[in-house]
Amino acid sequence: MTGLPTPPPAGFYARRLALPGAVLAPMAGYSDAPMRRLAAEQGALWTVSEMISARGLVLGGDNEGLNLGRPYPGESGRVVQLFGADPDVLAAAVQKAEAWFSPAAFDLNMGCPVPKVRGKGGACLLQTPEVAYALVRAMRSATALDVSAKIRLGWDSDRSLEVARGLSEAGAAVITVHGRTSAQRYTGEADWEAIARVAAAVPTPVVGSGDVLTPEQATRRRALGVAAVMIGRGAVGNPWIFRALAGGDWAVPDAVTRARTALRHAELQDTFYTVPDRHRPGALRRASMRPLRKVLPKYLPDLPELHPALLQAETLEDVRAALAPVTAAGRREDAAPVGAGGRP
Ligand SMILES: Cc1cc2nc3c(=O)[nH]c(=O)nc-3n(C[C@H](O)[C@H](O)[C@H](O)COP(=O)(O)O)c2cc1C
Repeated sequence: MTGLPTPPPAGFYARRLALPGAVLAPMAGYSDAPMRRLAAEQGALWTVSEMISARGLVLGGDNEGLNLGRPYPGESGRVVQLFGADPDVLAAAVQKAEAWFSPAAFDLNMGCPVPKVRGKGGACLLQTPEVAYALVRAMRSATALDVSAKIRLGWDSDRSLEVARGLSEAGAAVITVHGRTSAQRYTGEADWEAIARVAAAVPTPVVGSGDVLTPEQATRRRALGVAAVMIGRGAVGNPWIFRALAGGDWAVPDAVTRARTALRHAELQDTFYTVPDRHRPGALRRASMRPLRKVLPKYLPDLPELHPALLQAETLEDVRAALAPVTAAGRREDAAPVGAGGRP
């Protein structure tokens, strides 16, 4: 025994950033528990929840069952993203969310340009960054977990260096930069040179976000000096992009595997969103597959003939039937004795 104090454990982000891989982006309407689970299973460094209103959490009474924050059983490595503009409300929301949702870390949304969020936080904070610094400080005072922030380059012009420096001084453990201004929304191309300038200018690890669709792009952009690359739209229907970046297996699975994973996504949707019916004691309210209509065809871009049925699916049984032409073919192949199935 040397009597030296044990150093404090490295924070969540530092531990994960020591590993290879990419991060699943927060995406309202997409990065819910089923999508996060599939991404985590394929080796995502961490995942980020859809944004949650801090005020809604604090004023909303008992929101422990809120689907936006609720983890799937056994979920770890999930960051909860909050939006808001009032330090006291953010601090109270962090405390509630930590108790209810067991996150690995918290993230402050400073990038959402939609009107609902304007004036209440989101990308608005890029116009008043000193408010954002106060929010990060307030969130940090409410938890021992890491607190990060996700910004765009600016409101309508690039202020990212100034804002990132301020966030770094406020103690953000990671700064994610989406390489567009708020005025650009999702048009044009993400400016990775601007992201790289931020990464070179602050001591805080910078995660880059925007237009990463393939493992090749992710690898090139990682080499620009960011600590990690975040993937949003490119991960919809493609959790294997995380496997490629975590483990170097760049193979895209065949159609049978992709169809089975699409079905699994639907099964996870069914399990997570089927809940007790408040109006009929003892009965269940089954999950709808409507939110997956925009997702499931992305697993099978090369099989457009399956899309019409997937785009009309209401129930898990509808999804099963829509995918059956491919999943059933897979089962027949599995059942065929080796050497008798015509496979090479
Ligand atoms: C449908 C959709 C919803 C999004 N929701 C959020 C959100 O809740 N919080 C956030 O910080 N960013 C959100 N974003 C931005 C993404 O996290 C990401 O920064 C952006 O899409 C660029 O990355 P990509 O090209 O890999 O999708 C959203 C993007 C999309 C397309």
